[in-house]
Amino acid sequence: MKIIMLGAPGAGKGTQAKMISDKYGIPHISTGDIFRANIKNGTELGKKAKTYMDQGLLVPDELVVDLVVDRVAQDDCAKGYVLDGFPRTIPQAEALDAALEKMGSKVGYAINVEVPDENIVTRMSGRRACVSCGATYHIVHIPPKTEGICDRCGAKLILRDDDKPETVKKRLAVYHEQTQPLIDYYTKQNVLVEVDGTKDMEEVFAAICRILGE
Ligand code: AP5
Repeated sequence: MKIIMLGAPGAGKGTQAKMISDKYGIPHISTGDIFRANIKNGTELGKKAKTYMDQGLLVPDELVVDLVVDRVAQDDCAKGYVLDGFPRTIPQAEALDAALEKMGSKVGYAINVEVPDENIVTRMSGRRACVSCGATYHIVHIPPKTEGICDRCGAKLILRDDDKPETVKKRLAVYHEQTQPLIDYYTKQNVLVEVDGTKDMEEVFAAICRILGE
């Protein structure tokens, strides 16, 4: 079960990817979480990535492709994985396909979580994220049990630097220009499926489980 999550920033890709990972017992690989962990730990990769992320821009392909290709080649990915935030450009998708072909593997599902732009800015300003374990909440729709504290690991929740409304608008523009073309790319490969991301989180997940059929 090799799954790619597609959708605008804030569409709910991360939320659904975690649920898929828990239910099907496959790793959740989020490039955004990997970059945020590197920023938190002050690594060279984190320092480079932060300059792009803070502006709402994509991190250059050369900083992300090898990282993901190496990750999906690891033993725990043999049964499958859910990629969240990658690929994000056509060159990233082509690099992934080429690497998978060498491993005798291919993408099984590209799940597009559809949410109109007008819903996104409100969602993002209410988002709270855990930088320790990657869990995501929403102060109104999906609140943590204790305000400001992660249910899963007890760490403090933060408002992401790139969730300010001006940066969100930039991220949406970048999404439409550079990432949306992947919808056609995976449609041509006959692996694209779509779900309505405006429904509540459990309904979206039920629709995904029907598609995955297990
Ligand atoms: P990344 O972390 O991947 O950000 P993103 O794609 O912009 O997606 P988000 O994490 O913002 O949103 P999401 O769709 O996961 O939504 P979520 O589930 O949190 O990337 C950040 C940055 O890193 C990029 O801008 C780029 O700079 C860089 N980067 C990462 N990967 C890269 C790559 N491959 N190439 C180049 N650069 C890369 O949900 C959002 C909110 O809504 C939450 O509060 C959630 O609780 C709530 N919510 C979720 N579902 C629902 C629902 N059904 N109803 C109501 N609320 C909901």
